[in-house]
Amino acid sequence: MCGIVGYIGEQQVAPLLIQGLKRLEYRGYDSAGVAVAKNGTLLVRKEAGKIAELEKLLVAEPVEGVYGIGHTRWATHGPPNQKNAHPHVSENGDFAVVHNGIIENAGTLKKVLQGKGHVFSSDTDTEVLVHLIEEIFNTADGERAGKLERAVEAALSQIEGTYGIAVISTRDPGKIVAARLGSPLLIGVGENGQTFVASDAAAVIAQTRDVVYLDDGDMATVTREGYTVHRRGQGPVNRPVSRVDWDLSEVERGGYPHFMLKEIMEQPATLRETMRGRLLLEEGSVKLGGLTGMDEELREIERIIILGCGTSWHSGLIGEYMLEDLARIPTDVEYASEFRYRRPVVEPKTLTISISQSGETADTLWAMREAKQQGATTLGIVNAVGSTIPRETDAGVYLHAGPEIGVASTKAFTSQVVVLAMITVHLGRLRGTLSASRGREIVRALQNLPEQVSHLLEMDLAIQKLAEEYVDSRNFLYLGRGYNFPAALEGALKLKEISYIHAEGYPAAEMKHGPIALIDEEMPVVVIAPKDAVYDKVRSNIDEVKARGGCIIGVISEDDHELLEVVDHAITIPRTIDMLTPILASVPLQLLAYHIAVLRGTNVDQPRNLAKSVTVE
Ligand code: AGP
Repeated sequence: MCGIVGYIGEQQVAPLLIQGLKRLEYRGYDSAGVAVAKNGTLLVRKEAGKIAELEKLLVAEPVEGVYGIGHTRWATHGPPNQKNAHPHVSENGDFAVVHNGIIENAGTLKKVLQGKGHVFSSDTDTEVLVHLIEEIFNTADGERAGKLERAVEAALSQIEGTYGIAVISTRDPGKIVAARLGSPLLIGVGENGQTFVASDAAAVIAQTRDVVYLDDGDMATVTREGYTVHRRGQGPVNRPVSRVDWDLSEVERGGYPHFMLKEIMEQPATLRETMRGRLLLEEGSVKLGGLTGMDEELREIERIIILGCGTSWHSGLIGEYMLEDLARIPTDVEYASEFRYRRPVVEPKTLTISISQSGETADTLWAMREAKQQGATTLGIVNAVGSTIPRETDAGVYLHAGPEIGVASTKAFTSQVVVLAMITVHLGRLRGTLSASRGREIVRALQNLPEQVSHLLEMDLAIQKLAEEYVDSRNFLYLGRGYNFPAALEGALKLKEISYIHAEGYPAAEMKHGPIALIDEEMPVVVIAPKDAVYDKVRSNIDEVKARGGCIIGVISEDDHELLEVVDHAITIPRTIDMLTPILASVPLQLLAYHIAVLRGTNVDQPRNLAKSVTVE
C-alpha cells in the first residue's frame, strides 16, 4: 500500500526514482511524485494517475540532482489527485516527506499545528508529519549535526499509527532520513556510496541485490558515506545485509502482455520450486527446513488457527480441510481483520498459521501479533522473503514462488495450497494420524502436479474462446463443495477483482438455501465437480441448476464422459487426490478471469481501487 523509494549517490536521481516507482507501482497506483534536492532547494513534481503520468511531467519539467525521494500512492485520506500525491512539502518548501501507512491522530495534530499558524494544502494525514517535523526543527536549539534525525524522531514520537517514511530537507542537506513502524522499508546498498531506501527490494534490484531490512522502530540515516541505523529512543544497531535471491527478469513481464498471465504460466515452475528438496517419497513424508527442531511442540498442538486475507484466506480454508481430514487437528480459519478485534480466545497449545503472499498485510500481521501475545506458537506461510510476517513468526515455510507482481494472486495461491499440503503431511506423520503409505500417495500426487498444471495451461486458447462467450455477463455464480468450495470462492474473487463482473462463490449445497433464486438463463454458473468424495452430491446440484434454465460451465474430471454431456461448457482437469483438486480447478479459472478481463479492456495487473500489498487495516 503505497511505495517509497529514495536514492543518494553519484547518478541523476530522477530516472532512478522513476525506475524504482515503476517496480513498486503494484503497491498503489493512483498518483505519484518525487522531490529532488538541488542547490539548496527541493524540486517537487507530482501528478495524479500512474507513474507514466509523472514521467511525462518530468519530461516537460525536468529535475536534476543526485538525491531525492519518490512515492506511488494508494489513497487512504483524501481523493487521488495531484494535491494529495506525495511528497508532501512544508510551507516554506524546506522539508519533504513520503509516507506509507496511516497517521491515526492526524486530526488532533492538525488542529494543534493550525493553532501555531501552519496552513495545510492537502487532505492527507501525511501532511501533518511534514508540518510537525518543520515545527520541531525550527524550535530546536542550535545547528548541531543530526538535527533532521532528531526532529523526525521527535515528530514520530507524537504519531499514532503506522509508517514507513523517507524525509529530506534543505536545512540539513545531503541525507535521507528513513523510519518504519508497521510499513516495510529497506536500505539498498549499492556500489560507490550509492544507497537506496525502498518499500520493497523490487525497487532497487536493477541497481543492487544487497539489502538491509529495517525492523519496526528502526530509523536510518542515508548519506554519500553510507548508512547508519538506530532504534528510535535508543542507540545504534547493526542490521545484517541480505542478498536478494531473485533477479530482475522475475520482476519484468518477459514478453507476456501482463504480469498476471506470466504468473499463471509460471505455475509449473513455481510449484516445482515450492516443493524442491522438500518431498521424501520413500518415507511418505516431507522435510520443511523452517520447522526444524519443532517436532515436540508440534506433537503437542491441540488447535490450529489459520489467519489470512483474500486469496490467502481461501488457501487457508483448503488448509483447514486438509489438516482436519489428515492430521486430525481441530482447525479454524479466520479473516485476520476480524480475528484481532473480537477478543479471540487463544488456548494454550494453539498453533497459528499466518498465510500471506506479501508478508506485509497489516490485518494478518496484527492478527498474528495478537495470537502471539496470547501465547500461541506462530508459523508463517509467506512468499516475500525477509518481509515482516516471517521475521516475527516463530517459524515458517516460504513459498519460493518468486515475486508476484500482478495484483490478482495466482501462483502464490497454488504454492500456498502446496505448502499447506506439505505441512499437513508433516503434522500427520509426526502425530501418527497419517500412515507412510497414505503419505507416499500424497507425495506422489504432489510430484505430479507441475506436469498436470503444464497440461492444463495448454487449454489457454480454448478458455479464451469460452471467455468470448461470457464477456458480457453481468453476474457469475461459482459453486464447489468440500475441498473445492474454497476454489469456488477463489475463482469468483479472481473474476470480480480484475473484470469488475459481480461474482459469488458458494458451497454448492447451500445454493438451494437462497442463491438458487438468482438462477435464470442469464446467469452463468461455474461448477467445480471433479470426481471426488462429494461428486454425486455436486452432480445433483448441477441438475438443480439445469432444471431452472441455468447455464453451466463445469470444471470436471477429464474422464467424466457423463457430465460432459450435461454441462454447457466443460473445462476438463486431470485426476489427482481430492485434496489437490482445488489447485487443478483454480488454474483454468485464473485463465477464464484473465481472458474475460482482457476482453473487457480493464487494467488486469492494476485493477481499479486495489493494491497488491494492503499495509493498512
Ligand atoms: C488476491 O487476488 C488479492 N489481490 C488479495 O485478496 C490478497 O490475496 C490479499 O490482500 C492478501 O494479501 P497477502 O497474501 O499478501 O497477505
